[in-house]
Amino acid sequence: MARAVRQFICQVCGASQPRWQGKCDACNSWNSLVEEGLTAPVSGAASGPASRRKGRTFQLEGLQGDSAEPPRLPTGMAELDRVTGGGFVRGSVVLIGGDPGIGKSTLLIQACAQLARGGHRVVYISGEEAVAQVRLRAERLKLSDAPVELASETNVEDIITTLGQGPAPRLVVIDSIQTMWTGAIDSAPGTVTQVRGSAQNLIRFAKTSGAALILVGHVTKDGQIAGPRVVEHMVDAVASFEGESGHHFRILRAVKNRFGPTDEIGVFEMTGLGLSQVSNPSALFLAGRDVNTPGTAVLAAMEGTRPLLVEVQALVAPSALGTPRRAVVGFDSSRLSMIIAVLEAHGGVRLGQHDVYLNVAGGMKITEPAADLAAAAALVSSLSGCALPPDTAYFGEIGLSGSVRPVVQATTRAREAAKLGFKRVVSPPLAQEKTTQTKAAGERGDRPADRDALRADTVSHISDLVAQIAAAGPGKPRAASPREHARAGHGAGRAEPSRGRQPADWE
Ligand code: TYD
Ligand code: MG
Repeated sequence: MARAVRQFICQVCGASQPRWQGKCDACNSWNSLVEEGLTAPVSGAASGPASRRKGRTFQLEGLQGDSAEPPRLPTGMAELDRVTGGGFVRGSVVLIGGDPGIGKSTLLIQACAQLARGGHRVVYISGEEAVAQVRLRAERLKLSDAPVELASETNVEDIITTLGQGPAPRLVVIDSIQTMWTGAIDSAPGTVTQVRGSAQNLIRFAKTSGAALILVGHVTKDGQIAGPRVVEHMVDAVASFEGESGHHFRILRAVKNRFGPTDEIGVFEMTGLGLSQVSNPSALFLAGRDVNTPGTAVLAAMEGTRPLLVEVQALVAPSALGTPRRAVVGFDSSRLSMIIAVLEAHGGVRLGQHDVYLNVAGGMKITEPAADLAAAAALVSSLSGCALPPDTAYFGEIGLSGSVRPVVQATTRAREAAKLGFKRVVSPPLAQEKTTQTKAAGERGDRPADRDALRADTVSHISDLVAQIAAAGPGKPRAASPREHARAGHGAGRAEPSRGRQPADWE
């Protein structure tokens, strides 16, 4: 008979300890250990005397061989299919994580309805909502006519037995994995052991039946409820559904994908009729932007393989505090500190007595270093009062020496800017980008792909950017005129004396 093993499981990282302690040794979280009973074995794997059986031999194979593309189940929602790599793969398991209320259930009921209308058997199991609630939502979304099979269930054994009846389903949605429990494990639903054990059983069902399985997982900020992280390694793909509650758009981002690209994103907008797909996200993010206002710069960003234009807004204001305030929304605060330091040290821009706020409009989160140049341009523009030209997009990484370094996919970024009617991009020199033909194009070199539509201004040093902005707009410089500086600092040597006074000491 299986012996019940008591153990203490960290609800943050899933590590197991033989006795209770205040702090988890594995992840250093405090007060995260919960006593859980585990009736071994969980997964049905043999243990004890049976496991001592003699192993059988099996065939080893080479890397070459016939391996057909896995059969996929496209949902017809282009943004969702893009993230999964062309549709859900049969027999595969996708974990969709996200904050509560972000729209996971809405997205999945829409995908279920699409597939069910296409004649596939689709089952949606909700462990959180009653069938009536799911129906009500479907009614609001005008999806009631779709033959989706619904149930409100939480026991994994019951679910697997029910799904085993009749033809195998093509798609099964489990909303959410935290509410599921299996009788084989004696702990409360939502604990790490239950989440893991339930997921294991459901995954085994998907593999044997060939159904595509989607597990929904809530991510809680404080990690009190066992997050879906503990099952990430078991599933074939992990996607996270992100967005700011105050904004309408949502991003589905592939974090791991055994059957397709990672870092791919799908963009949706939450409307009264559920999530609608956004095929041109740049236009959405730039809609209603303030042109001719100092402090805003358009960044040509990349999200996976997808170019995206977003507006970076900066506000620089004299500080009344001893330690000026720096705040960011949608941007990395340590990158902002670095950009400020580089602007001070190598661009001659004085920000030490100013509060600095940086915001990525629309609720986007930008993490790539290519955003540095746009952030710097927005900061200088806000400080100087010189509005940046509205038809210019920026991208480039700033190094600690003040150099502006090349970034990947420059041509794709520039092309997206041209597509949206931008006339000019300010970017690092393209010399190192192999995809372009004009090697070492030099200052103001044209990029071949966009020669007609777009002018490419290259900046190789942060001081070039400062000079360019100062030269373009009226501003309110005090000491040295920015034009004077522009002549001295633009493009050429780095060691010129102008650097010391150039910044025009804007205040
Ligand atoms: P839901 O899909 O229930 O979120 P999750 O499953 O991730 O917890 O979405 C809930 C939110 O979405 C809720 O705040 C209301 C909003 N919503 C809309 O704005 N429009 C709609 O058509 C629907 C169905 C929901
Ligand atoms: Mg939900």
